[in-house]
Amino acid sequence: MEERLRDTAEKAKAALEGATNLEELEEVRGVFLGRSGLLRDIQQGIRDLTADMRPRVGQLINQTRAELEVILERRRTELKQLKVHEREEEDQIDISLPGRSGYVAGRHPLLATLNDMLEIFLGLGYTIAQGPEVESYHYGFEALNYPADHPAMDEQMTFYIADDVLLRSQTSTVQIRVMEAQEPPVRVVVPGRCFRRDTVDATHSHTFHQLEGLCVDEGITFADLKGTLLAFGRAMFGEDTQVRFRPDFFPFTEPSAEFAVTCFVCSGDGCRICKGSGWIELGGAGMVDPNVLAGVGYDTERYTGFAFGVGIERFAMNRYGIPDMRLLYSGDMRMLRQF
Ligand code: DAH
Repeated sequence: MEERLRDTAEKAKAALEGATNLEELEEVRGVFLGRSGLLRDIQQGIRDLTADMRPRVGQLINQTRAELEVILERRRTELKQLKVHEREEEDQIDISLPGRSGYVAGRHPLLATLNDMLEIFLGLGYTIAQGPEVESYHYGFEALNYPADHPAMDEQMTFYIADDVLLRSQTSTVQIRVMEAQEPPVRVVVPGRCFRRDTVDATHSHTFHQLEGLCVDEGITFADLKGTLLAFGRAMFGEDTQVRFRPDFFPFTEPSAEFAVTCFVCSGDGCRICKGSGWIELGGAGMVDPNVLAGVGYDTERYTGFAFGVGIERFAMNRYGIPDMRLLYSGDMRMLRQF
């Protein structure tokens, strides 16, 4: 019996040491130390022993049980730790993976174009002025010398909020606000959002941007206008750039012109960007109509001025090769990340 006990104890130790996880250990415990386990089995054999042997064997069994329980406890702790380690390993961050790089914002092509334009005029001594996008009919048209019902308003068809309140269709409205607020000399550029009832397509948008310029002082002539826009064109597109003026009509300038620069892609030879003409139209310009100057209380005998307005969208599209105006407002990061 003692031998059987020793043999069982050996097996139990080996099995306890050999258990590779907590579940296995629990099984081993059941087999040897459980209520109907092998040790209990041996213990029950005590009844068959002689009275003088019983205490010794009983003690031996208890001692073996105690020893095995110590081993069981130790293995339990070891296997628990192993489990924690394994989980930690599973949870571990794999630092060999490259991190996701954050997107550093770039400038929107419209803003980049506008900023470059502003930079040039700031260098020429202009300051930046701004005005409201929601305007009264007075600032929107009347003060700009549009007679009531004049057909020139047709090409400025805008959104009316009330009979007398509208979204500005051009930044020219701010000319009036600037002149009302100060005496000459005036040299301002006005960047801003404008609105027209255009049907949206690849080259039209109901919302778009302009850069307006206004210069009023004593002795300002059309030559100053040409010189200023030539300087602008050359700073923007390079020293070889030429400027072209062709007669046009705007109610707030007299004479009025549309102006163009030699194509910055083909330098005037004709290409896809300038549609073969060699010129890229930038906007309208002219000498401020004396009616407008008088309207803001300027002395028209003393002061003359010129004004111009440049569209930002078409220009940005040409510059960056953007084929569809709608892309500029789409917020599509696949497009915007390229800039
Ligand atoms: N506001 C005009 C337009 O949107 C452009 C323009 C023409 C602006 C002549 C001016 C100017 O300041 O003098 O078509």
